[in-house]
Amino acid sequence: MTNFTTLAIDTSCDDTSIAVVRDQKVLSNCISSQDEIHREFGGVVPMLAKRQHEENFAPVLKKALQRAKVQPENINQIAITRGPGLAPALEIGIAKAQELAAEWGKPLVGINHLEGHLWSAAAQTSTGSGGWLPSPSDFPFLGLVVSGGHTEMYWITAFGSYEHLGGTVDDAFGEAFDKVARLIGLGYPGGATLAELAKSGNAKAYPLPRAMRLSGDWNVSYSGLKTAMVRLVSELNHNNSRPLTKTEIHDLAASFELAAVETLTHKISKILVEKKPRHILLGGGAAANLALRKTLRQLAQKFGAQLHVPANKKLLRDNAAMIGVVANLRHAEGLQNEPNLDRRPRWPLEQA
Ligand code: KG4
Ligand code: ZN
Repeated sequence: MTNFTTLAIDTSCDDTSIAVVRDQKVLSNCISSQDEIHREFGGVVPMLAKRQHEENFAPVLKKALQRAKVQPENINQIAITRGPGLAPALEIGIAKAQELAAEWGKPLVGINHLEGHLWSAAAQTSTGSGGWLPSPSDFPFLGLVVSGGHTEMYWITAFGSYEHLGGTVDDAFGEAFDKVARLIGLGYPGGATLAELAKSGNAKAYPLPRAMRLSGDWNVSYSGLKTAMVRLVSELNHNNSRPLTKTEIHDLAASFELAAVETLTHKISKILVEKKPRHILLGGGAAANLALRKTLRQLAQKFGAQLHVPANKKLLRDNAAMIGVVANLRHAEGLQNEPNLDRRPRWPLEQA
């Protein structure tokens, strides 16, 4: 790649993010989080998210350009997330991107959010660290997206060619963490807090189910584990008549985390046995989970594969830099972009 620069925008959920990416290098990656606004509702309120994106767009754009020290004339194209995500949130990002593309006279390309998460380990920091790119002989290999909205396993046969191997049939990995966090009184979004408390808990304190182990496919399910947690918590707190103790909370967190991680890594180990990839690409906000990473690292070592993770935490959560990296890779690979920029709230990566 040769100094090809994209201004990328992602408004797929509740974060307004704008980034400037030159080839693989992230020159800026600005994110305005709306957690504070949605917290009191215990989840993302789509119309509130839309309004916040509208308000945040101009200041985040200004910051992204300033941090990257670029002017519009240094930008080759604009990239926007078309989906999957929340329809009203996607819509506002696309409208803003179209306005900007017209004002600056730049081409506009639509990118799949999941492709962004998938390739976030290809992003290089502004100082040039990180950023793994496969050479042609590295294909095919395994790609994993683990976030609040997705738990997906892909067989990557070439850049832009993805076969869906499996995923969750109900809640996503991060979503299960958030729901259980709320159940044990950790607020919203509590996934990361739960994982933090799990570190000092006893993961063997409570026996919990690992669903679909024998399902014969590569899918996972988290609804049974969540139901088991609801039952366990109401037994422990006598139907809410006494608060959970600190030890109980830590042990519940640790036992849940182990069950959630093992549910997923059990299926991943089956893929490693059967398909023998040499590389594993990991992305998504919930890939910040250290227990998950540790098990994946061990599995990768056992099966002779290399695990590739994003260079920093900001590249894991929803962010626009990952969208810019994919847009630049698609350009370098000469992949055609659909002229249609309509939002696609449901957009399987296999169709991107
Ligand atoms: O990628 P992301 O920012 O948004 C989506 O596209 O979903 O992921 C956020 C999700 C939330 O569900 C959050 O609770 C979860 O990732 N998460 C974690 C951890 N850190 C964030 N889940 C488990 N363990 C963590 N350490
Ligand atoms: Zn995401």
